[in-house]
Amino acid sequence: MAEKTDSDNLNRLRIEELRSQLNKHNILYYQKNSPETLDSEYDFLMRELRELEMLYPQYANSDSPTQLVGAPPSKRFKSVTHKLPMLSLANAFNNDEFLSWNERLSKLLTAETDFVCELKYDGLAISAIYENGNLIQGATRGDGTKGEDVTNNLKTIESLPQTLSGSYPSVLEVRGEVVFPISEFNLFNAARAADGLPEYTNPRNAAAGALRQLDPNETAKRPLDVFIYGLGYTDSNLPYATQLDSLDYLSQLGFNINENNLLVKSTDQVMEYYSSCLAKQPNLNYACDGIVVKVNRLDFQRHLGTVGREPKWAIAFKFPAEQKETTLLDIRFNVGRTGSINPYAILDPVQISGANIKQATLHNEDYIRSKDLRIGDRVVIERAGEVIPQVVKSITTKRDGTEIELIMPETCPVCNHMIFSDEDEALSYCVNSICSAQLSKMVEHFASKGAMDIQGLGPKQIQVLMAENLIKDASDLYDLKNQQDRAMTIERIGETSLDNLLNAINESMQQPFERVLIALGIRHVGPEVAELLSNRFQNVDKLIDASEPDFVSIPGIGPRISSSILSYFSNPSNIKLINKLRNAGLNLKTETTEQVDKQILLNKTFVITGRMDNFSRAEIQNKIKALGGKVSSSVSKKIDYVIVGSDPGSKLDQANSLQINILDETQFSELLQSLLLNYDQ
Ligand code: IVH
Repeated sequence: MAEKTDSDNLNRLRIEELRSQLNKHNILYYQKNSPETLDSEYDFLMRELRELEMLYPQYANSDSPTQLVGAPPSKRFKSVTHKLPMLSLANAFNNDEFLSWNERLSKLLTAETDFVCELKYDGLAISAIYENGNLIQGATRGDGTKGEDVTNNLKTIESLPQTLSGSYPSVLEVRGEVVFPISEFNLFNAARAADGLPEYTNPRNAAAGALRQLDPNETAKRPLDVFIYGLGYTDSNLPYATQLDSLDYLSQLGFNINENNLLVKSTDQVMEYYSSCLAKQPNLNYACDGIVVKVNRLDFQRHLGTVGREPKWAIAFKFPAEQKETTLLDIRFNVGRTGSINPYAILDPVQISGANIKQATLHNEDYIRSKDLRIGDRVVIERAGEVIPQVVKSITTKRDGTEIELIMPETCPVCNHMIFSDEDEALSYCVNSICSAQLSKMVEHFASKGAMDIQGLGPKQIQVLMAENLIKDASDLYDLKNQQDRAMTIERIGETSLDNLLNAINESMQQPFERVLIALGIRHVGPEVAELLSNRFQNVDKLIDASEPDFVSIPGIGPRISSSILSYFSNPSNIKLINKLRNAGLNLKTETTEQVDKQILLNKTFVITGRMDNFSRAEIQNKIKALGGKVSSSVSKKIDYVIVGSDPGSKLDQANSLQINILDETQFSELLQSLLLNYDQ
């Protein structure tokens, strides 16, 4: 029994860890346009999480990254609610995975299907809405439900029509991908480098950066292109029965439809298409990282529906990551927020997928030893459109005996303090709590998006503030307003940006207790653990006083997290920091006022029947109740809607005979969205 609990705990911890890593990647990728993870690594983390959630459904959670698309829209733009959710795609990484998708699909369909094959453009997903033929709204995908309003920026893209030709419904939404043409990307980056500006690491990030400029004139300077790959919402039924016909129709309206789209009849033909695109890819002037295979018939698409955040009727069949050989010139180390000593590779610069790669992460000592990487080795580097490349392996046959094995430093590369090695974690730490590298990384973490979200306070500003002795730790940020005269004299934090910074710092004081907990940077305390802690203890003093049994009695917290929290609060300098934050006026207790959901389902009664794919029935029930609706167990004339999953049984027949509105899960989500839209207006 004890064993089961231990392994259960491990699974839960791993699930928690994966969720927090994936959430972090999502924010970096979708909001900051600066991912730090390989796409392939992200895909594998997502896959592991999905498998664990399937094996251990008791830990399923509707906020899990497996259930969401992307990251919530940033506050810099007006937020728009998508009329239909913007979904993501499941991935296949090889023929077998593609074929098993096809097999699953065939079982669900009554007849053979043909497919439309398209390229998978590696850019930024957008929605564009036309009313009476005029472009009235453009939005990014955001978290799939809400995106950012980038209408004026989208209007600067020449290949997106502002008015439609031919005949069109009064409301028409199209979905597509904005890309930065590679030739233009190279010129653009060269010009930035000449101006001393940081270069974008790949065309995708440059496209995202361009589309998310606050000034449309800035977007207009960047020659973006767009490929439209599908229809979104329309207010009338269009007479098109297939994906291919709808693409033809969109082309007639004036949209840019990619010339490589192809109708195929068999999986063999899909694989031929895949190979020919893979061969063509290096000559394309836009980034693409695979193909997308879609069931052609739209009625089949509707019948197949979606699971979680992905349609069952489409799959991204990814190209293998691009690899190159180069020399590992040196192994260097930087210091992380927790004092971790992080090794990274200095490489002989090499071009991969249009980017010049000079460095790669090496994670930790074990990673280097397990791959037997030596300074001077010829190594294989992999990069699949993402930013931080990986060292895949060393080519040992090319050694000449001069290669040097890794020597881990004994002292911190920044403060020279002794290093402590944690065998369990394969990491070495600088344990000097006043190491300047750690302090600045801690402030960086404190100010980051998922923590106090202080916009405009990045690594550079922090370095300047620390170098000028304006701040020593995060709590000093809240005293900065009293030092304005001194701060203003500093180069690079001029008046306007100082004003903005002070405003952002001031605004951050509204962040709730759990965000402050995340901001403290306690090892293993990410968003989920912080939420558990704030719910259980309600205020920081109770948390400081808690002991191990108090922690481990909370489902979701095990001995590892517990000991990390205890060790954090046993350090007097951390208590001092908390007291300074308290004096500054930060929220160190939970708000008691409960937030009430918008009562969009008032006076509406639902019956739920059948097996749901995405949410449990209890989740749907709670949602309905939270929105003011009622849930009944039997179908009668008084029922407004019946939500139907798989194998619904007699309730569906009753609903049909009483002519009650019938919704599947997706239609239920759509109903909520449209009611919310009307509620807001
Ligand atoms: S179809 C419901 N077609 O891939 C289907 N998506 O992981 C969803 N993408 O962000 C989209 N090329 O923007 C589709 N030919 C294509 C695509 C494509 C690129 C992007 C899409 C989305 C991501 C899905």
